[in-house]
Amino acid sequence: MDGAAAAKPQNLGGSLPVPNVQDLAASDLTPPVLDRYLRDTDAPAVSVVVNGEDATSVPVVDLGRLLDPKLGEKEAAKLRSACENWGFFQVVNHGVPDKVIDAVKEDLKGFFQLPLAEKRAFAQEPGGIEGYGQAFVVSEEQKLDWADMYFLSTQPPEYRDLKFWPSQPSTFRDSLERYSAEVQRVATDLLRIMAKNLGVKDPEKMTMIAGSQSVRINYYPPCPQAHDKVLGLSPHSDAVGLTLLLQVSPVAGLQIRKNGSWIPVAPLPGALVANVGDVIEVLTNGKYKSIEHRAVVNAREERVSIAAFHAAKFGETYEPLEEMVGEGAARYRTISVEDYVKLLLSSKLDGKNIMDAMKINP
Ligand code: OGA
Ligand code: NI
Repeated sequence: MDGAAAAKPQNLGGSLPVPNVQDLAASDLTPPVLDRYLRDTDAPAVSVVVNGEDATSVPVVDLGRLLDPKLGEKEAAKLRSACENWGFFQVVNHGVPDKVIDAVKEDLKGFFQLPLAEKRAFAQEPGGIEGYGQAFVVSEEQKLDWADMYFLSTQPPEYRDLKFWPSQPSTFRDSLERYSAEVQRVATDLLRIMAKNLGVKDPEKMTMIAGSQSVRINYYPPCPQAHDKVLGLSPHSDAVGLTLLLQVSPVAGLQIRKNGSWIPVAPLPGALVANVGDVIEVLTNGKYKSIEHRAVVNAREERVSIAAFHAAKFGETYEPLEEMVGEGAARYRTISVEDYVKLLLSSKLDGKNIMDAMKINP
């Protein structure tokens, strides 16, 4: 794969300035301030039983077994079912060393404990998405998420803009770099096995969507005033290939939509939560669906997560794979990575879902 020639385009869209939520949560909140965060809906609907079945348990897949020639086949069947029926699964035995995970967790904790002014030294700039701030706030009327976020391009190394990488804690850059490389390896392994499961002859057609990686670190402060009327992260699907998310805190918050209900993804110590993103839906011509999910907020405890989004490098193309289209018709457009990113930003600005623009004859 030759991505070196394709530089990373700048100015990948920005956001209107909004308050820092961690700062807000720590202050004496008066009702009008909270208004911008309050949703019309009541307490988030959560169902733990779907069709009479306990649906709390998103499938768990063991990467060590998947890669073991003797055990792989049975585990691959589990992965196939998770991709077809859930779009979400937890990955255990993924081989990311505990010390790599612990170090990144520790540094995230250290970062969020810094005074606001020091965190703001790494703030997003007008028109840009990288750095500490918020994602995609496009109107003054828009309901706001009860969270701060920190977005960084992590892979390949030439996509990094180190001015947004914190210099405090002093170990942060190092721990994020290691974590990022390990997680990219997990994504590539999973995609290779997915390719096999799907009968895609050239695994590179799938693994190329882990050619680049960006991370979104989410900080959800507690919201004692109205935790059941705010959302940490609005419902969305991930507009990328494969997401691997680490629930840094042992606090529940992530929920996925299944059969019309919201199902919690309970934090499983050490596991990575994997989800099929929009680009996998495109490549598989709709066989693996990108699933809507959201994050709710706790009344008393803060919650931190780090999502690693994997996508193809600039210069590549997204299209339904030959083996997946077969004798049928492609249900999604063919599009260059650059145009896909442009389409994503214009969809966000118009309040639309990119998949509506990607589908052919929806
Ligand atoms: C995301 C996301 C969920 C969470 O960052 O895209 O869905 O639990 N995060 O933080
Ligand atoms: Ni997401």
